[in-house]
Amino acid sequence: MFQFYFHKDRGLNDALLERARAANFNVLALTVDTITGGNRERDLRTGFTSPPKLTLDSLMSFATHPAWAWNFLTKEKFDMPHLSGYVSQGTNLAVSVGDYFSTMLDQSMNWNDAEKLCSQWNGQFALKGIMSVEDAKRAVDIGCTGIMVSNHGGRQLDGCRSPFDQLAEICDAVGDKIDVICEGGIQRGTHVLKALSVGAKACSGGRFYLFALAAAGQAGVERVLGNMRTEIERDMKLMGVTKLDQLSRDNLRFHPSR
Ligand SMILES: Cc1cc2nc3c(=O)[nH]c(=O)nc-3n(C[C@H](O)[C@H](O)[C@H](O)COP(=O)(O)O)c2cc1C
Repeated sequence: MFQFYFHKDRGLNDALLERARAANFNVLALTVDTITGGNRERDLRTGFTSPPKLTLDSLMSFATHPAWAWNFLTKEKFDMPHLSGYVSQGTNLAVSVGDYFSTMLDQSMNWNDAEKLCSQWNGQFALKGIMSVEDAKRAVDIGCTGIMVSNHGGRQLDGCRSPFDQLAEICDAVGDKIDVICEGGIQRGTHVLKALSVGAKACSGGRFYLFALAAAGQAGVERVLGNMRTEIERDMKLMGVTKLDQLSRDNLRFHPSR
């Protein structure tokens, strides 16, 4: 799955699309919940940019994490090859996530743009960041084959509901028409089994694999994926379930007010 951001620069959008096609990605997922950056106060406090900027604080952090600093200084330089050739942000210029969203992404993106992109891709296409039944239905109308029910890991709109809490009504509305993927806080096999019991087709995760990647690279990601598989299999046995299609809402108790 190739995650797509809709940029102001239409040439860059076309280039990203063709790159994804040439690399044989099966699915294009257009992120729709970052029309502007969330107020990431921790990033503001730490001055976090990508790649990291050298500040007194970051120097202290490098000094106290020597293995990380050694890797950073001696391994391949940070690069965003998708963007090189289009924007200064594609070079080694340190930029915050918030700055990137507000300067690079097209805040006027609308349903027509999404529909056009969907037909231009002409394959499996998902909207990432759907949180309401109304938007889920509209995703079906514009030809999407999937949606990712997501609030961007709670990194965007403060106070919004969790994707899991929105899942049942969204699955009831569109679950028989498109693939519904649930994400946000998925860390354990039981988290996946709960979402599948509600009606999701699959789950996805961000920090689930990113923490492992940061800690131990590829081996770390392989380890968490292995752990996840083991947990899902063990938990299914403990639930007395031999196939995923045996999962149902009978496994869960919903609060009566939902
Ligand atoms: C460090 C980091 C970088 C992310 N970058 C992107 C991104 O470039 N595009 C995107 O659509 N989502 C991005 N996300 C959000 C994830 O794709 C995903 O929606 C979210 O992390 C799911 O919640 P979880 O981390 O609890 O699994 C990022 C998340 C993190 C933690």
